[in-house]
Amino acid sequence: MKRFARLTTLSTLLLAASLTTGAAHAQLAPSAATPAQASAPAEARKANIVIIGTGGTIAGAGAAATNTAAYQSAVVPVDKIIASVPEISKIANVKGEQVFQIGSESFNNERLLKLGKRVSELLKQPDVDGIVITHGTDTIEETSYFLNLTLKSDKPVVVVGSMRPGTALGADGALNLYDAVLVASSPESRGKGTLAVLNDEIHTGRDVTKTNTFKTETFRSPFGPLGYVVEGRTLYFRLPARPHTTQTEWDIDKLDKLPEVAVVYAYGNVNPGAVDAAVKNGAKAIVYAATGNGSVGDYMVEPLKAARAKGVQIVRASRTGSGVVIRNAEQPDDKYDWLVTDDQLPQKARILMALALTKTSDSKELQKILWKY
Ligand code: DGL
Repeated sequence: MKRFARLTTLSTLLLAASLTTGAAHAQLAPSAATPAQASAPAEARKANIVIIGTGGTIAGAGAAATNTAAYQSAVVPVDKIIASVPEISKIANVKGEQVFQIGSESFNNERLLKLGKRVSELLKQPDVDGIVITHGTDTIEETSYFLNLTLKSDKPVVVVGSMRPGTALGADGALNLYDAVLVASSPESRGKGTLAVLNDEIHTGRDVTKTNTFKTETFRSPFGPLGYVVEGRTLYFRLPARPHTTQTEWDIDKLDKLPEVAVVYAYGNVNPGAVDAAVKNGAKAIVYAATGNGSVGDYMVEPLKAARAKGVQIVRASRTGSGVVIRNAEQPDDKYDWLVTDDQLPQKARILMALALTKTSDSKELQKILWKY
């Protein structure tokens, strides 16, 4: 794997000179630095950041500059994306690594585990100060929540995407990537869990979700972003409230398979067969994306109770997009031995339930986990 180039005294002078003359320096000669320089703390030197490519729109390309929402996703290699933002080399020593080249709608448990294990491996390397993951926006919320719960490092890990391809008028990927590298390079980003950076905002991977199909301000957290990144500054105003990374009971290095957890979406006339299909597919839990405060239609209660009787955990979630589901309110959860989400969206509850089931099958313990993370 490519080593990071480090500033040597000579190249520092050359770089300083080139910056004044405007010349760009993407890579520097391998370090011949003195031991003191080589071991300089990250704050005294440019941070070493690995930029992982997984695909998505940030790696997309359209036929015309006016194609902002119709384009080919996951076609530009990560090294080309990095080279298209030369300003990045002024704020960090970066190297690219292509792990996938897919639309993020194609993530599954296997790919999630592979990405997480590679991130974990890189974080262990002493010359890696932080990681940026370029990712399709559709499922950034699941990937960032999963990494937030399973990585065992305080080093910054920042997931970034874009809503428009680099070929489009008003493309957002270049600034999003530059900002993501800034955040990953900032000592203040250490110990804040997995972060998502888009549209000048820094979000915790726990809360962030995509709320619009094409707008650049699509990413929202119900309680707001943790902070902003603007004009080269990383500004934090809030801290994550729930345990993450080194504070959780899961270690990505010790996870080789995730239990099957299905999401069944409720609507008027939802077919009970959706529950039966989930059970037949081997689901160990069903997250029921119910209406309102986790309300279950009268014709769905028995199918869900029957699934529970077969050993499948039932989790009442809400399709509303925010709020918490109140235990024993719309349904007698104690009596049915059902669970409720806290504020997690159904797609996030699926990630947490899958991890929880690697630890326990006891309903009371599972409920504690849903309320804790
Ligand atoms: N195919 C979608 C994805 O990879 C494109 C959306 C995007 O990346 O903005 O998530």
